[in-house]
Amino acid sequence: MALLNENYLKLPGSYLFAEIAKRVTNFKAEFPEANIIRLGIGDVTKPLTPAVIDGLHKAVDEMANPETFRGYGPEQGYNFLIEKIIATDYTPRGVKLEVDEVFVSDGSKSDVGNIQEIFGVNNRVAITDPVYPVYLDTNVMAGRTGDFINGMFENVTYLPCNAENKFIPALPTEKVDLIYLCVPNNPTGTTLSRTELKKWVDYAKANGSIILFDAAYEAYIQDPELPHSIYEIEGANEVAIEFRSFSKTAGFTGTRCAFTVVPKTVMALTAAGESHPLNKLWNRRQTTKFNGTPYIIQKGAEAIYTPEGQAEIKTVVSYYMDNARIIKEGLESIGLETFGGENAPYIWLKTPNGMDSWEFFDKLLNEAHIVGTPGTGFGPSGQGYFRLTAFGNKENTLEAVERIKTRLSL
Ligand code: MLT
Repeated sequence: MALLNENYLKLPGSYLFAEIAKRVTNFKAEFPEANIIRLGIGDVTKPLTPAVIDGLHKAVDEMANPETFRGYGPEQGYNFLIEKIIATDYTPRGVKLEVDEVFVSDGSKSDVGNIQEIFGVNNRVAITDPVYPVYLDTNVMAGRTGDFINGMFENVTYLPCNAENKFIPALPTEKVDLIYLCVPNNPTGTTLSRTELKKWVDYAKANGSIILFDAAYEAYIQDPELPHSIYEIEGANEVAIEFRSFSKTAGFTGTRCAFTVVPKTVMALTAAGESHPLNKLWNRRQTTKFNGTPYIIQKGAEAIYTPEGQAEIKTVVSYYMDNARIIKEGLESIGLETFGGENAPYIWLKTPNGMDSWEFFDKLLNEAHIVGTPGTGFGPSGQGYFRLTAFGNKENTLEAVERIKTRLSL
């Protein structure tokens, strides 16, 4: 009889967004006429921009021609895309990268989920709380945690982020090995300053830790003082791996393209104390388990880096950030306390009257027919909070705010 990976049994019922989908399906079955507005999962609604569509079309035509047809590409991604990424996203910020330090992939969810494979099972993991569930769940699956007790996994360092500490995680009081940071943050929509990030880089250097830095929302940063990459912080190229995605930047949630930066200077130790570059391990992992992002998709992503592409995606980001403003101002006008939404497409709100997060989820769905995400789905410190996304279309966003103002009994 085959034995299963018992670590999977430690995980609570279902992945957060699957649980939300189930509740919405049940609600729809009961109230088929209800016009539901979805501000739950952070999925984009604007179509791919003209430059991207043009890039995709041209690549499709190339695939139809024996002279330009492509089969397997490099597992790490094509240089035509990697060179543009470096030249546009990093060089102007003073970050030096080589092409073999950037790995193109089919999405940041896969990369942030898979990265833990290159680390030993005995590493201690630190996560901010609340947190994007993928970081934690994938470490549970790998056996890097204990059991789930009272809403928390044993052997994990939770770093609470709440209104009291302005959503700035404190450095751990115990020694941790792997640190997940998401900046700008999903779910709280808050950010960390250069000074705060420097504290983490210094901590990692002093403790031999690795920072797994998820920058999927960097395009939403409006404040010119805020860093977009961890590598803007001195010394980060020795201790950090960075994840970037085209999903939220350029509408690629369904198209799938992202990249991960693993500088060759980031090292980790064997049990015997020998130092190895993580770049080599990630390259080995990707070349073994991944056959590369499709050529067509990478050509679509490359088009983002043309002048037209850059202008178009800026317009789309502004559109969503205007939604964020509409939501934030609307909620505040009826006395709700909100956070984030200024440098990120998420608004994090304090549930009214001490209501618990799932209770508020049900209330919003029942009274206003709006789907959001309960804070507690992101971790114990999310209790009493709720997330709304700015990725809806403008009409729905305006309508949702109107419904919250007029239909919700507070
Ligand atoms: C979210 O809603 O948190 C995101 O859509 C999840 C993701 O990007 O996978």
